[in-house]
Amino acid sequence: SNTHHYNFVLQQAQFTRLCETKTMLTVNGSFPGPTIHARRGDTIYVNVHNEGEYGVTIHWHGVKQPRNPWSDGPENITQCPIQPGKNFTYEIILSNEEGTLWWHAHSDWSRATVHGALVISPARGTTYPFPAPEAEQTIILGSWFKGDLKEIIDDALAAGIGPEISNSLTINGQPGDLYPCSAENTYRYQVNYGKTYLLRVINAVMNEEQFFGIAGHSLTVVGQDAAYIKPINTSYIMITPGQTMDILVSANQTPSEYYMASRTFADGNGPPFDNTTTTAILHYNGNYTTPSAIPLPLLPRFNDTAAAANYTGRIRSLASKKHPINVPQSINRRLYIAIALNFLPCTAATCANSTRLAASMNNVSFEAKPIDILQAYYRSINGVFDSDFPSEPPKYYNFTGNMTSIDVTSAQGTKVTMLNYGESVEIVFQGTNLLAEMNHPIHLHGFSFYLVGTGKGNFNNVTDPKSYNLIDPPEINTVALPKSGWAAIRFVADNPGVWFIHCHLERHSSWGMDTVLIVRNGKTRATSMRRPPASLPSCS
Ligand code: C2O
Ligand code: CU
Repeated sequence: SNTHHYNFVLQQAQFTRLCETKTMLTVNGSFPGPTIHARRGDTIYVNVHNEGEYGVTIHWHGVKQPRNPWSDGPENITQCPIQPGKNFTYEIILSNEEGTLWWHAHSDWSRATVHGALVISPARGTTYPFPAPEAEQTIILGSWFKGDLKEIIDDALAAGIGPEISNSLTINGQPGDLYPCSAENTYRYQVNYGKTYLLRVINAVMNEEQFFGIAGHSLTVVGQDAAYIKPINTSYIMITPGQTMDILVSANQTPSEYYMASRTFADGNGPPFDNTTTTAILHYNGNYTTPSAIPLPLLPRFNDTAAAANYTGRIRSLASKKHPINVPQSINRRLYIAIALNFLPCTAATCANSTRLAASMNNVSFEAKPIDILQAYYRSINGVFDSDFPSEPPKYYNFTGNMTSIDVTSAQGTKVTMLNYGESVEIVFQGTNLLAEMNHPIHLHGFSFYLVGTGKGNFNNVTDPKSYNLIDPPEINTVALPKSGWAAIRFVADNPGVWFIHCHLERHSSWGMDTVLIVRNGKTRATSMRRPPASLPSCS
């Protein structure tokens, strides 16, 4: 395996989209940011210099970082922010990840503009479990806000109401030609007739799950979250914020121009969302007359839950000899975590009403502290976190029934779950209809996990485990929890450290839909956390 070195300079830069120019935080002045290339098993060093105006951290989404939570990145969880004028070198240790991951800022809402792809090719001397493509390309789905992200989230939290929705969706940083002032810069991907291409699709959208497709072309999905899957032929995918999908596309249609497009999937009675469509163009090389109306892909309607579930339900890990899986057949520990939107009491000084919108896991609305949890744990600093996160919701409710008479108030807390090294863990995430029934993309740091089961309604711990897939469940890092339903994941807690779990809808995460797992050290050096790097950002 090899090592790679990158320099990331966080700096303000001007960008014009939707007819308006704004100054925003970027890495090296580009948006989306630079792509990191590595091979399976490599180690990457990224020196991040902060030349911006406020503290920021970077997270390497989906990298397990064996025994190395120090470089994982979530602000106030594993480190304090890199302050303006300072730098910090992340050590990104790849293990069995292969395919597409990404990196993003993990402070406030800065990830809207501070993100990029992390492409992990097969190890030297090995190859893809599918015919090598002619070429490959990252396709990053994003959100564009005309306003300043820091102001948007600060104002929203202060007012106790929902932050505004994005002004457009984007593909590789461009809104696409269905939006004003955007036609000229619409992202174009050039293909040659008869060849097959690998698209590495990343959902970096801030608050919405997406349907994605290419007009006239069938998609063959071969990977998800840097693990290969049994190939799926489909006309569309559903991809939730945080996830990646690797897709083969054969340029086998009449040479012309075809739209690729992404549009929000948002079923339920949640808040308003960005229901616009972003486009890019698949452009065949050669001589032909450009069609006057480029065809759009037929994507499911915004609230087509059946279409989303249908696609997601087809995903199976490759589970081959070369790409074996390690799903626990039995478990030592089950956590049952109810995911909800709530109100928090607040005072007139901090919010306009007497309550503000909040979100919780097991009725605890996560509150970040000024010292990060990893440091508090490592140095035994008291008063930062409590290790009594409830292993099930406080009271049994009919989570997915009518909850209008249920008290929606929750309390803030910084509560973690302690796990022993090597435990086989199952977490059942339970959606609730509290305030709004919605889909939630739940992401776990430090692991990939197996999605062994999912269903509608309330989880039944006697009957539902009988339907689990323990043979070839997908190995992922972000699960799209369906509205009014549940999802069960399993993994072995063999990565000592402090690991964040949160909804990857930024709105929910900033309201407290987060919690933390701490995996204790094992008995040997090789099963214990690495030493902290010499120059961690200070917390003062
Ligand atoms: Cu992609 Cu904790 O995040
Ligand atoms: Cu959520």
